[in-house]
Amino acid sequence: MKSKRVVVAISGGIAAYKSPLLIRLLVKSGCEVKVVTTKNALQFVTETTLRSVSKNPVYSEMFHDNNADEIEHISIADWADVFVVAPATANIIGKYANGIADDVLSTTLLAFTKKVFFAPAMNSNMYHSPVVQENIKKLEQRGVTIISPVKGELACGYVGDGKMVEPQDIFEIIKTFLSPNNQILERKTFLVTAGATYEKIDAVRFIGNYSSGKMGYAIAQTLASYGAKVKLIVGHISVELDNNPNIEIIEGKTAEQMYNAAVKLFPCCDGAILSAAVADYTPCAVSDKKIKKADQSLTLTLNPTKDILASLGKIKTDKQRLVGFALETDNEIENAKKKLHNKNLDFIVLNSLSDKGAGFATPTNKITIIDKDESLLPFPLKTKKEVALDIVNHLISKL
Ligand code: CTP
Repeated sequence: MKSKRVVVAISGGIAAYKSPLLIRLLVKSGCEVKVVTTKNALQFVTETTLRSVSKNPVYSEMFHDNNADEIEHISIADWADVFVVAPATANIIGKYANGIADDVLSTTLLAFTKKVFFAPAMNSNMYHSPVVQENIKKLEQRGVTIISPVKGELACGYVGDGKMVEPQDIFEIIKTFLSPNNQILERKTFLVTAGATYEKIDAVRFIGNYSSGKMGYAIAQTLASYGAKVKLIVGHISVELDNNPNIEIIEGKTAEQMYNAAVKLFPCCDGAILSAAVADYTPCAVSDKKIKKADQSLTLTLNPTKDILASLGKIKTDKQRLVGFALETDNEIENAKKKLHNKNLDFIVLNSLSDKGAGFATPTNKITIIDKDESLLPFPLKTKKEVALDIVNHLISKL
């Protein structure tokens, strides 16, 4: 982190009292930090505190007498490698999403051309309001990384989403981004699978599962935010896909379609992370018409599908990295280790259905990464975006 230049921008929310901790962590790790605030932010945290922890002047005014020769919002923007807005209120999210620049924070942000992180913090009703969500989506589409707020007790007395992620976790995300390893991803292409495959039974029915595609999509977004090109094969998902120039979407609605797309694309990729919940069986015969109800029992005969991950494991070269998931209900570690070796993976991500908040269709996940040498790396319960970051960081360490 030595000689890295970070702007910590603070907007006016109660979580601003935590910003000095983030600044302190960045300074301690060797970064140079400049602090830019809105006027309202200084209602929650003093200029003296911010100046002391950052060891630099604090910029809260657009017009003042110091440095009359310098256009401050441009020189700060040019100076920094990374811009972190923590806390980010609904107001600054709205301003940046819509190009409004009416104070030193919003003008500096608009003049900044490199990587921006936003750590929103606000009342949960405000956070979930359609306009804030729309603005957040706009920012994500433009490459801003949103460090999504977590559930918790909010200053307004509500309990819900809107609590700013802890300074230590924001620091880890920035540290990862600034690590020289990340540049490796800029020249690489990865295959990612996400969502559920549906296997047709008749004209109106299928065999499927509850996978939402959230985990796989978060992985694709994380890879793309580090400049990697992603070929994302999606089955059935319940997450909205944004337009991201680094992510190419390919449909793989059935196990067979997903298999065909994956084996075709994998040879031109530097690696693959397969998170899709692929059906293990597909009906032998598919009726064109709706199967009519009858009094006697109905037997469906199913054929096994091809294991996509195992197939890629067979064609994988030494230069490629292959990562799979294991969703287990019992003998979790043992079963995951078997999958890791049988499918020739570099590491496997275990999520256990017995962990509360982990698995399908939840916004959170709790994983353990198991390496080829069977070493275990357990993580606490996190949002799927944070989990994606942990997985991508681990992948980087293998490149
Ligand atoms: N997988 C795959 N193709 C399949 C089945 C699974 O690519 N036909 C991949 C999944 O995307 C995941 C990994 O294999 O990365 C493990 O999937 P999981 O369902 O946990 O295990 P299975 O191998 O299907 O074994 P089982 O269902 O018996 O646990």
